[in-house]
Amino acid sequence: MRALTVHPGVPGSARIEEIAEPHASAGSVLVKVLAVGVCGTDREIIEGSYGAAPAGEERLVLGHESLGRVLEAPPGAELAAGDLVVGIVRRPDPVPCACCAVGEWDMCRNGRYTERGIKALHGYCAERVRIEPEFVVSLPPHLDRIGVLVEPTSVVAKAWEQIERIGRRAAWFPRSVLVIGAGPIGLLAALLGVQRGLSVHVLDRVTSGPKPQLVRDLGATYHAGAVNEACPGVDIILECTGVGQLVFDAMRSTSPGGIVCLTGISSGQRLLEANIAALNRSLVLENDVVFGTVNANRRHYEEAVGALARADSAWLERLITRRAPLERWREAIDRGPEDVKTVIDLSPPPSPAPLSR
Ligand code: BGC
Repeated sequence: MRALTVHPGVPGSARIEEIAEPHASAGSVLVKVLAVGVCGTDREIIEGSYGAAPAGEERLVLGHESLGRVLEAPPGAELAAGDLVVGIVRRPDPVPCACCAVGEWDMCRNGRYTERGIKALHGYCAERVRIEPEFVVSLPPHLDRIGVLVEPTSVVAKAWEQIERIGRRAAWFPRSVLVIGAGPIGLLAALLGVQRGLSVHVLDRVTSGPKPQLVRDLGATYHAGAVNEACPGVDIILECTGVGQLVFDAMRSTSPGGIVCLTGISSGQRLLEANIAALNRSLVLENDVVFGTVNANRRHYEEAVGALARADSAWLERLITRRAPLERWREAIDRGPEDVKTVIDLSPPPSPAPLSR
């Protein structure tokens, strides 16, 4: 069967390969993959700056944002052939740490977790994959066009859960949220903010393309200017770009008791001159919180499925701006300026219409 593989650490090594069918030891649920979403992490792996192959192997099957259909499930599992499913990305560390021991592998304390398609485990960008039943999440059938958004939505479901847990440290009645970055994570974070009844503001640098209208169609407000002018006195900022200057501006722009949630992974290449002492002063005197969040556990995947099922599916479909078949995977990796989420499509093409005689 075909799979998209890469030699981690070697730029430009990604290619379609014929690989063996997944081994039964990889999990008792056999899944036919329908689609795999592409994100910045995949691009970093392809550029050779992130990712690791399984122990003893050179190449890694890519893909962590999955959508598939069950082909075979073991008796007793709450899954049946034909079910629409998504595979969870992370697996607990083998020790396990206190968090992994209770299923909170997204909070792994020792860094020895593994991740499908990213760190030491083959991913989902193959025609068929095997998954352990406890790492399979079921979706209602009507999410078949947009179910590939479950994984990025799980990441923002976790971010919102953490924001709310931090908020509960004192009386807290948030009214507004500013999301920085109108990529897939930013737009999905905005959707979850709207679903919470908040006044949602989204800031990005573009003024054309689909993003401004996607934001407005959510009932949110789009901004293209400076962070501190977008929503003065905002209660929550979700930073989804990882751009150093925007991160710094976010930390200076909340109201007292504000929460800044960082989800963007910076490249770490750029130096920024900043007055950290003045920042410290305002964080302390205002009881502000700045925190980072990554990954998601099963609870967040289930919340993500609920959030997507409640959302307008036509709006969600507009987030997927490009679908490329597996053999043209490069078109999904090379993201254009107007793209939001790009997807590699592994579903078979519709069978040709019978020839008329
Ligand atoms: C994935 C996360 C993962 C992180 C770090 C992100 O792109 O969505 O599941 O934990 O990369 O590897």
